[in-house]
Amino acid sequence: MRNIIITGGAGFIGSHVVRLFVNKYPNYRIINLDKLTYAGNLANLKDIEDKPNYRFVRMDICDFQGVLQLMQEEKVDGIIHLAAESHVDRSIKDPFTFAQTNVMGTLSLLQAAKAYWESLPEKYEGKRFYHISTDEVYGALQMTHPEGIEPPFTTKASSGKHHLAYGEKFFTEELKYQPHSPYSAAKASSDHFVRAFHDTFGMPTIVTNCSNNYGPYQFPEKLIPLFINNIRHRKPLPVYGKGENVRDWLYVVDHARAIDVIFHEGKIAETYNIGGFNEWKNIDIIKVLINTVDRLLGRPEGADMDLITYVTDRAGHDLRYAIDSSKLQRELGWEPSLQFEEGIEKTVRWYLDNQEWMDNVTSGDYQKYYDDMYKNR
Ligand code: NAD
Ligand code: TYD
Repeated sequence: MRNIIITGGAGFIGSHVVRLFVNKYPNYRIINLDKLTYAGNLANLKDIEDKPNYRFVRMDICDFQGVLQLMQEEKVDGIIHLAAESHVDRSIKDPFTFAQTNVMGTLSLLQAAKAYWESLPEKYEGKRFYHISTDEVYGALQMTHPEGIEPPFTTKASSGKHHLAYGEKFFTEELKYQPHSPYSAAKASSDHFVRAFHDTFGMPTIVTNCSNNYGPYQFPEKLIPLFINNIRHRKPLPVYGKGENVRDWLYVVDHARAIDVIFHEGKIAETYNIGGFNEWKNIDIIKVLINTVDRLLGRPEGADMDLITYVTDRAGHDLRYAIDSSKLQRELGWEPSLQFEEGIEKTVRWYLDNQEWMDNVTSGDYQKYYDDMYKNR
């Protein structure tokens, strides 16, 4: 029996983590704590919202007293912290909100957990504060090869497996933090606070840094759902710069599976990088998306290539992200379950089959869901 708060459970990744834990652990009590910002959508959790081991609480992680009371009331012994402002473009326009939620919000959660757990006779025994972070804290990697070979080239990961890469360096857990965007700077700061609470107070913390996620329920401001929806409606696809930037993509359910393994078996005070050695240039992914959407809609494959529209580059646009997740694979035996081709096919199908979900998000109707479903409960 465990009582776990999952913050940000109404968001993209959080909803997959909540679903996995609610279904897999009927003996656990899962409390989804979410403020429901524009990114929170309770329709993401329709299939589990009536389960007896699930509770939704609308709350801001910055509300220290509220979180403390909730922890006392629910005798919380585990926190899986995903709530954050997560979109780089928004962080460029409004960095204050990112510092407030990602830094102050994380600190407020840490303080509440500290106050509650230190008040118990057993203190931190059996407790866990698990902070979900991003690979973007490490900064950006170059696209270089020592012998001048043109990327992508085949290389061997420290796990021993071969994969395609766009450069010879990878993000490992020991790398120094070099965030460039206000988003990654705020996430980096929150990671430092979490580690400081372990080092200073002995709080049992774990931090993981994951690569770009894709899959169902992602808010359509991010590349993959935005572009699938635009291709469907034959709207222009705004490609930043030359589309040459490289991201390392992981299917969201595989991230949730990693979170499950690490929450239960990860070592306290450790950091684990999560990724599937799956680097892609934006423009190549975009072509895959166009071909897949066209094929599934019965259009001639590639008919929508002319939607590609090169626009002004994102300020400070990180060139390449590439995660080395061999520590996680070696120590805890986690591996991604899906190949990218399979994951992208599933993802495109999901968005095409769930047009109502997409329409509710793009029209803003999804924000009424809380009032309809929860206000009178
Ligand atoms: P998201 O933007 O889809 O969801 C964020 C959720 O947090 C929303 O439900 C929102 O309502 C909630 N939230 C925001 N501010 C809050 C506050 N002050 N109090 C309570 N709830 C609040 O984000 P996501 O893409 O699911 O990312 C989740 C976490 O994973 C973030 O911490 C992010 O940094 C990290 N991450 C994301 C990716 C990715 O590719 N999306 C990759 C690695 C790590
Ligand atoms: P995004 O999904 O915003 O994730 P992140 O910036 O956290 O990696 O963007 C993924 C990549 O796609 C990134 O290199 C920026 C690029 N991009 C575009 O070219 N056009 C777009 O409209 C968006 C949203 C992103």
